[in-house]
Amino acid sequence: MQEKIKEIQNEIERFSAKSAEELENFRIKYLSKKGLLSGLFEEFKNVLPEERKQVGMLLNDLKNAAQNKINEFKQEFEGSKETEKSDTDLTLPANFIEIGSRHPISLIRSKIIEIYSRIGFTVSEGPEIEDDWHNFTALNFPEEHPARDMQDTFFIQKNPDIALRTHTSSVQIRVMENEKPPIRKLFPGRVYRNEAISSRAHCFFHQVEGLYIDKDVSFADLKQVLLYFAKEMFGENTEIRLRPSYFPFTEPSAEMDISCFLCGGKGCAFCKHSGWVEILGCGMVDPSVLENCKIDSKIYSGYAFGMGIERITNLKYRVKDIRLFSENDIRFLKQFDSAI
Ligand code: DAH
Repeated sequence: MQEKIKEIQNEIERFSAKSAEELENFRIKYLSKKGLLSGLFEEFKNVLPEERKQVGMLLNDLKNAAQNKINEFKQEFEGSKETEKSDTDLTLPANFIEIGSRHPISLIRSKIIEIYSRIGFTVSEGPEIEDDWHNFTALNFPEEHPARDMQDTFFIQKNPDIALRTHTSSVQIRVMENEKPPIRKLFPGRVYRNEAISSRAHCFFHQVEGLYIDKDVSFADLKQVLLYFAKEMFGENTEIRLRPSYFPFTEPSAEMDISCFLCGGKGCAFCKHSGWVEILGCGMVDPSVLENCKIDSKIYSGYAFGMGIERITNLKYRVKDIRLFSENDIRFLKQFDSAI
């Protein structure tokens, strides 16, 4: 008899019900008046006195196990019905849903666009998945340029011609290929680089590129536009400094610093005691880039500039860890709501 009890115990333990009907069949099979357990209790009368204690305990365990199974599934099947029926009180006020806020990167991007729109710049966008021509070749990147290295660029699948754009300068090419000068445009967007993520670098970030192509555009025009931007963005007393630099697609090229707005240029820990902080790259569009886009470089010239939105945002709000921008923690994001 003990064997039989164990067999049934195993059966019960293995049982699981998918519907209330299955559960009811289970109950009838084991616990109803004519069920298996009643039969066993009937047989129990014939058990020898020395085995009675042992067999009795097993039988009780069996009954409990069957009852527990029923309770377990009963809750599951009835629970949902009951909440539908009675647990919903439509007169209660709704749960409080916290309102989101604009992302600091969006705020600063809008601010940059707004500043430049006042002097005639309009916005265009280009694809984030780019081909080699628009991201590199047309921008004068020589074949062996380190920026083409696998370390910097995310290539798509196994096709070396397709990559995630590494900068928004690619949109310059697309616009110059499709529009006739004068062109006065801004290209905001997300860019990607294959970098280890840290508090200072991320594998994706945002840039705004500016481009102006017309007859007789000079470096002085570029300088004046950048000075205007720096003052509008960082305050009336801001000064700028241009340092000679190198970019394949501009000649001459420069990097622009602004006077440190914390110490006013006297030197502090923030500007590493130099009085200046770097904010963007710029230059006169290289004639061969114009020619790559079928714009006659004997008639037209132009300038371009590019800046990182995270960089400007960090400077403005002194955010120390760039990863905060992509974590979407509302406690962080909320702080910028009315800041601009
Ligand atoms: N594309 C450059 C970068 O991602 C930034 C840049 C520099 C853009 C100079 C420009 C420029 O348009 O003139 O680092």
